[in-house]
Amino acid sequence: MDITRRGFFFGAAAVAASTALGGDEVDGNLTVFLSDIHISGKDVKGQPTYQNPLLDKTIDPVLALRPRPRRAVVFGDVALWRGHAADYAESAPRLKRLSDAGIEVTVTTGNHDHRAPMFAAYPEQAKKTPVPGRVTSVVDLGTSDLFLLDSLNENAAGEGSNNAVAGTLDEAQAAWLKGAAAAAKRPFFVGAHHPPEELPLGGKNILAVLERNPFFAGYIHGHNHRWYLRWYHNGYSRRHVVRIACLPSTGWWGTIGFSLFRTFPDRAELSLAPGNDFFFPNPLKPGEQRPPEWDDIVAEERGGKCIFRYR
Ligand SMILES: [Fe+2]
Repeated sequence: MDITRRGFFFGAAAVAASTALGGDEVDGNLTVFLSDIHISGKDVKGQPTYQNPLLDKTIDPVLALRPRPRRAVVFGDVALWRGHAADYAESAPRLKRLSDAGIEVTVTTGNHDHRAPMFAAYPEQAKKTPVPGRVTSVVDLGTSDLFLLDSLNENAAGEGSNNAVAGTLDEAQAAWLKGAAAAAKRPFFVGAHHPPEELPLGGKNILAVLERNPFFAGYIHGHNHRWYLRWYHNGYSRRHVVRIACLPSTGWWGTIGFSLFRTFPDRAELSLAPGNDFFFPNPLKPGEQRPPEWDDIVAEERGGKCIFRYR
């Protein structure tokens, strides 16, 4: 497969970042991005579960990648609707297939998650976070870092309650992000479940603040269940534009699939992995006709790629 060969043969940095693990090559520049997995606890009343095996179907080809990706990041909405402990009990063993294969897994929250049961199911997140109480992480992507934010605006009633749909960036994380960005010594991405418009930083558009930093390389989010790429400019006096990518869902609705994120010395590339699908608002039932536009969307999105050039 071209994408793995390229990673393996691309320069000394990629080779140096590759290490043997149980006889399999691991590519330190390769990360799998998953989002909006929406896993449902089997015994939670009224919750559909068709999406659970679709996550397994996503993980199968990830495990078959050679060289193996070093890590996987889940961009929130780990739980289906209301962040039940039972939802996380169902997602954790599925994602553990990745960590069992040596692929480090990092998760963050979406608007359908609750922090306490998420920390309980993913206890390593409490050790990783630079912001106590938040599911925040710094992920080494190879030649750059990902500052992964926890953008959940949580209902204080906790597990089992509906949260606000819109995201938020609390003051502690905003202060941490400003400090981390100012201290950056190499390119960094900012990621969160929510799109950048929902996470103002110090009362300003987060991208307007970050794009002044020469190490800021792009913004990646989930939430909208669509594969789409945008660019942002901070006014017509600026030539520089910021790339923004929205990730698909692994199986709930919309663009269905996962993405591969590969770093190089001068850039990173995000690509929609082969095998993408589309359905809305749920998979077809037996005997239902597949609307032709679903296949059009699949064909249009297949092979999609975004290049994030380091400055
Ligand atoms: Fe979602």
